Amino acid sequence: MTCRFRCGDACFHEVPNTSTNEYVGDVIATALSRRTMMRAAAVVTVATGAGAAVVTPAAAGTTDTGTAADAPAATAAKQGKAARGLRFAPVAPNTTDAVVIPDGYQQNVVIRWGDPILRGAPAFDPENQTAKAQAGQFGYNNDFLALLPVPGERGRQILVANHEYTDEVLMFRGYDPANPTREQVEIAWAAHGLAAVVVEEDKRTGKLTAVPRHHLNRRVTATTEFRITGPAAGSDLLKTSADPTGTKVLGTLNNCAGGTTPWGTTLHGEENFNQYFANSSRATDKRYGIGTGASERKWERFDKRFDVAQEPNEVHRFGYIVEFDPYDPTSTPRKHTALGRFKHEGATIRLTADGRPVAYSGDDERFDYLYKFVGSKRMKQGTSRAVREHNLSLLDEGTLYVAKFTGNSPAIEIDGTGKLPSDGEFDGSGEWIPLATATADGAVSHVDGMTAEEVFVFTRLAGDKVGATKMDRPEDVEPNPVSGKVYVALTNNSNRGVGSNAKADEANPRNANKHGHILELTERWNRPESTTFAWQLFLVAGDPNDPATYFAGFPKDQVSPISCPDNVAFDPHGNLWISTDGNALGSHDGLFGVATKGERRGELKQFLTVPNGAETCGPIVQDRRVLVAVQHPGEIDGASVENPKSAWPDGEGKIVRPSVVSVWAVDGSDIGV
Ligand code: FEO
Ligand code: CA
Ligand code: CA
Repeated sequence: MTCRFRCGDACFHEVPNTSTNEYVGDVIATALSRRTMMRAAAVVTVATGAGAAVVTPAAAGTTDTGTAADAPAATAAKQGKAARGLRFAPVAPNTTDAVVIPDGYQQNVVIRWGDPILRGAPAFDPENQTAKAQAGQFGYNNDFLALLPVPGERGRQILVANHEYTDEVLMFRGYDPANPTREQVEIAWAAHGLAAVVVEEDKRTGKLTAVPRHHLNRRVTATTEFRITGPAAGSDLLKTSADPTGTKVLGTLNNCAGGTTPWGTTLHGEENFNQYFANSSRATDKRYGIGTGASERKWERFDKRFDVAQEPNEVHRFGYIVEFDPYDPTSTPRKHTALGRFKHEGATIRLTADGRPVAYSGDDERFDYLYKFVGSKRMKQGTSRAVREHNLSLLDEGTLYVAKFTGNSPAIEIDGTGKLPSDGEFDGSGEWIPLATATADGAVSHVDGMTAEEVFVFTRLAGDKVGATKMDRPEDVEPNPVSGKVYVALTNNSNRGVGSNAKADEANPRNANKHGHILELTERWNRPESTTFAWQLFLVAGDPNDPATYFAGFPKDQVSPISCPDNVAFDPHGNLWISTDGNALGSHDGLFGVATKGERRGELKQFLTVPNGAETCGPIVQDRRVLVAVQHPGEIDGASVENPKSAWPDGEGKIVRPSVVSVWAVDGSDIGV
């Protein structure tokens, strides 16, 4: 059911990436492996087809070992205290229909689907819901979360949430998927998008309470006007009968993960936008998984812009990174074409030393790519209107890159089982391949046979042409604010190595990868704008008793099982927090914390689990609280309003409601301490 409503059954369709670029990678990896066998020093420079990269000392310094269990870091027992921030007793895997938290912690539901947030919005009444009511209430299926300070109001923060998608069978009593009504469709439009809602902190605990009717509260829906900016704005590819300028579009769809910018705005990925569009027959649409028949929700019956046969360019106006200014409730949110068009999981920003933004973004599809945008304009400090307007244009000019990963072990040692190669690490080097550059005077393509506009609108095809590395569903990508290393969650890919699909490589080392992995990327000289990098796998997920798992070398009898990493976040101490979606080990999804440095590096501990059918999303870890979005509770095959499969959060007999939860230590101490 999650597959059906969230991503349009993406995993049941054929893989959209049918390009053959993995063979290029094999050739280079084989050539490299001979070279790397001769390396000896702690730091090694590895020549690649297009440049040089520094292998991290930790990676190069490992000795030859055969299996994860034998990895050198595991041979020294890890004693002493857990990393600051992670000193909690892990929650055991479970299938409890609740948010299960460690002993010594408390929780509260901050806001639920349907809670009124705007002036005039009525109390939630699921039996009599209207589109107008929904447009003033918290939307459905909260995913990414951001918290930003409220100027001049102590103890308050603005919570910004994504509302990724709707589960019509869990929202409407008697829903008929073959014949949705106009009212149901319009409620669904109003339940998608974003929400901004001010929340108030309890003075003594980590409890948060929503402040309805605050002047900063806002809803953005599938019908809110957006401005299209950047190099493809105004392109013929983006013009429609309703918008001959190619610069205005209604709504944002399927916002999954996101990020908070250093200039005080939020970014939101438009992910599985393809599923809302019907009746396509173009090859470019096929590469994005846009269907040839009716869509799941039948929106094309109520607005022809969702019918590709009638309005061919509307679908070119989705699949972008959206920027939202939570401090100006009258602002028009933007879609940034310079960051490319694909199934953006989200985008996160790191600044260069001279103040330019670098945005990382994964394309969440089996065998799709990892991208980076390097801006050319510098961020300005200040809060004046002119400064904010300048900063809102930072993502319009710069260069878009796609990642190519090269392993440093002989290809024959990457056998697809997850067995570590003889150098003891899945690791290597990589390069960022430029696709196109946008400037104030126009844009330049770096891809043969594609114009710059085509690169920004058909970005997946540009990645195919330059031989980008096919990854196991790149989800959240997040730089560690303490170390600068970049962490990439690769959630799973059961098709890896199956049939004619690409087989395991060192960066995606397991065939039929059910549990996913997390890759740690170090930009050359630790500069975010570098065009080469070193990488290693930080976690290879699964049951730690499974030899095909790896926890940064930490003893596997001391870690929690984990499956399908999705969102990643950092606490103020630089510990990595990982939420999961689709646990394939039989437990409910959860949130995990793990140290990324020091002797406890790799000691993964489960902090919480979520109710039946739910996914853990949007983690934010502040000193005194953990905030999670509990997305799609009760979303289990066969569930409906009449036949619920969860009683969360309000108990038996009440409709199931996606909600945001805050968790804190009872003694008021910092998280985990
Ligand atoms: Fe909406 Fe890639 O998870
Ligand atoms: Ca290796
Ligand atoms: Ca996600």
